[in-house]
Amino acid sequence: MTAKLIEARGVSHAFGSMEVLSDIDLTILQGEIVAIVGPSGCGKTTLLNLLSGHIAPTTGTIVRHGTLRTVYQKDGLFPWLTVAENVALGLRHVHNPALRETQLEEAIALVGLTDFASFYPHHLSGGMRQRTELARALVSRAETLLMDEPFSALDYMTRLHMRHELVRLLHKMPRTVVLVTHDIEEAAQLADRVILLSRRPSRIWKQLDIAAARPRRVTQQEVTHAVSELLSVLNLDATGETPVAAEQA
Ligand SMILES: Nc1ncnc2c1ncn2[C@@H]1O[C@H](COP(=O)(O)OP(=O)(O)OP(=O)(O)O)[C@@H](O)[C@H]1O
Ligand SMILES: [Mg+2]
Repeated sequence: MTAKLIEARGVSHAFGSMEVLSDIDLTILQGEIVAIVGPSGCGKTTLLNLLSGHIAPTTGTIVRHGTLRTVYQKDGLFPWLTVAENVALGLRHVHNPALRETQLEEAIALVGLTDFASFYPHHLSGGMRQRTELARALVSRAETLLMDEPFSALDYMTRLHMRHELVRLLHKMPRTVVLVTHDIEEAAQLADRVILLSRRPSRIWKQLDIAAARPRRVTQQEVTHAVSELLSVLNLDATGETPVAAEQA
């Protein structure tokens, strides 16, 4: 049986009198890529912070197994450290210096930054910075990576490229991933399961399983079907049919 790494039961969260999340039940299984999508401000980051334990739910319980690590949208790197020094932070658990050096070189090569190992973040492109972040997260021991819009600061072509990179890296170094994204296409291309949140106070509006093997082409049927299904739930498919406002759902 596949292990449950995170189990949220009846989780609600309020900031003061504002209820953000309401009665969320969510289980993350080992090896899954789960995408969380939803309207801006609905509580995606809050849910990720609850899953990681950064904040405690107002009501409900969250049980975690194994170690977790959060990957942020941008600026997660230390600007005063080079690419190699930033990635090395993820390898602090490796005490043998020779082994640490080998793993560091491998990780940097894997994300294609060997020639940039001594560069500082401000001398890198946005995509290179995100690749450095991914390398640092993937060399760590964390079993679950919680990613909050990791590619949203990048242009479309770089985003497409980074999706492929993530799939390739996860194939080499398998991890469980919870990916918050506002990009429905990204969710459909990457995730085994998409959790669509409603507007605030957010509930789980729809869960969609996508069984296709990865890597997936953005144009393949399973991906485009998932995109159109999610867009139609969101009433963003531009069919001109009677709108079901997100708030009413
Ligand atoms: N620390 C906080 N204190 C008070 N209110 C907060 C706090 N963090 C978030 N909020 C509010 O909770 C709501 C949900 O915020 P959250 O950042 O989780 O949404 P989101 O879905 O990640 O949004 P976005 O799509 O813009 O990233 C927002 O109305 C936000 O203003
Ligand atoms: Mg957010």
